[in-house]
Amino acid sequence: MTATIIDGKQIAKDIRQELKGEIEALKQKGMTPGLAVILVGEDQASQTYVRNKDKACVEVGIHSEIYRYPADLTEAELLEKVQELNEDENIHGILVQLPLPSHISEDKVIDAISPEKDVDGFHPVNVGKMSIGKEAFYSCTPYGIIKMLEKENISLEGKHVVVVGRSNIVGKPAALLSLQESATVTVCHSRTKDLSSFTKQADVVIAAVGKAKFLKAEDFKPGAIVIDVGMNRDENGKLCGDVDFESAKEVAGAITPVPGGVGPMTITMLLFNTVQSVKQKSAMVASK
Ligand code: GUN
Repeated sequence: MTATIIDGKQIAKDIRQELKGEIEALKQKGMTPGLAVILVGEDQASQTYVRNKDKACVEVGIHSEIYRYPADLTEAELLEKVQELNEDENIHGILVQLPLPSHISEDKVIDAISPEKDVDGFHPVNVGKMSIGKEAFYSCTPYGIIKMLEKENISLEGKHVVVVGRSNIVGKPAALLSLQESATVTVCHSRTKDLSSFTKQADVVIAAVGKAKFLKAEDFKPGAIVIDVGMNRDENGKLCGDVDFESAKEVAGAITPVPGGVGPMTITMLLFNTVQSVKQKSAMVASK
């Protein structure tokens, strides 16, 4: 059996097209969505992510502001900038690119972002609301996975979802959102004993471990849906996921490739959340 390849790039493109229309309509009403991104330091991967976010904003018509600071920026200076953006009427979303230099507390910075502008979905208020199934900004990568499955008409109801990885950005929110979709959820991580015995039971595996080609064909049940969040380099320096795609696609029912799977969905959901933020603000103004 050869798996269906889930084309995240195309799904992301379709959603961005829909967003473009919504943004145009908002602009007609005098509301231009605005996203501010703060980048501290010279981390290469972060620079690439930030450039891609800016490009994606421009493409759909979101006003984008990027603030780049040297690595020796103080925590107080960063908190002051976040506060200024919290109060900026033209900005509906604030994203502080992680990781931050070690002298700055990521927790303090995330806590300082207004939950109404936390389009990354990292603020404890948004994480808390998500965990009790309330409307909130959801973390973009796991939210992208849920949207992607929705677009592929893959329901999680009653399915056994095994999440591999327990990060605050991907693993934990992926587990919570799957639960919200009525899946039965197991969370595995680096200390899990006999990981394969869990993944082999899964109807859906969400792999977010950060290790190149870590899961192989023999780790999956025939017909399983395999969602690969990994973004690694293989022995030849080629981009690859946490799943050994070539072997897994012979066993899986459906699988996301790397690149072109989950990756394009992450930025798309950031754009989506930014548009949501504007809509929520306008609804609040209207109800006053
Ligand atoms: N660093 C890696 N991924 C992310 C992300 O989704 N948001 C932020 N703010 N930083 C990141």
